[in-house]
Amino acid sequence: MGKRNGLTISVLLILFLIPLPAATQEFKEIPLVKPQMDSGRLLMHVLKDRRSSREFSNRTLPIRVISNLLWSACGVNRPESGKRTVPSAGNWQEIDIYVATAKGLYVYDARRHRLLPVLDRDIRALTGSQSYVKDAPIDLIYVADYTRAGKAPPETKDLYTAIDTGFISQNVYLYCASEGLATVARGTMDRAALGQAMQLRPEQRIILTQTVGYPKK
Ligand SMILES: Cc1cc2nc3c(=O)[nH]c(=O)nc-3n(C[C@H](O)[C@H](O)[C@H](O)COP(=O)(O)O)c2cc1C
Repeated sequence: MGKRNGLTISVLLILFLIPLPAATQEFKEIPLVKPQMDSGRLLMHVLKDRRSSREFSNRTLPIRVISNLLWSACGVNRPESGKRTVPSAGNWQEIDIYVATAKGLYVYDARRHRLLPVLDRDIRALTGSQSYVKDAPIDLIYVADYTRAGKAPPETKDLYTAIDTGFISQNVYLYCASEGLATVARGTMDRAALGQAMQLRPEQRIILTQTVGYPKK
């Protein structure tokens, strides 16, 4: 075996045998599973049960549940046009859902139905002032990207981004009511601190956060 071949084999052995640090191994794009169209309870029962809950178990949510949740929230339901489960003003589709977890921060890519890694850091505690936010499995952060908000006057953009977020939040409420999950939307948080931690661009604005998890037993 030549010297160079020996070196290549040694490098390959090192790459395969030395375990990477946990963060490098785990903090990467997460493909979501196809939404289950045959799941869910009767709409009238779901509406009867819809409520805000502020007591969460710290049990993690399976990928199947996260996939169904995000697709219900604002997933693509008409692939031919790319339109979503929620309406949006002028079809701007300007609201992004960031997902804060113990592993780090992700953003939902609705078109490809996957979670893209954003930040290798747990920022759940910054999504609200109440103590449960740091322990619940996921805190959703609804962020408006004003570069996608058309040519409307500023006050119209503010109004429509808030309305568009409301539709998404309500879909999350309904999915949670259907699946027996706990959830609460939150307007109260330190937006500057959260935005800084998320490394948002100046044209991005945090509208609302929403915690989702299993109810505390
Ligand atoms: C825009 C908006 C902002 C909210 N902000 C908060 C909040 O900061 N903290 C909180 O505990 N609940 C918050 N909530 C939840 C409301 O308090 C809750 O919806 C209301 O008390 C009615 O209860 P229900 O959702 O169980 O019907 C918010 C709800 C909305 C729609």
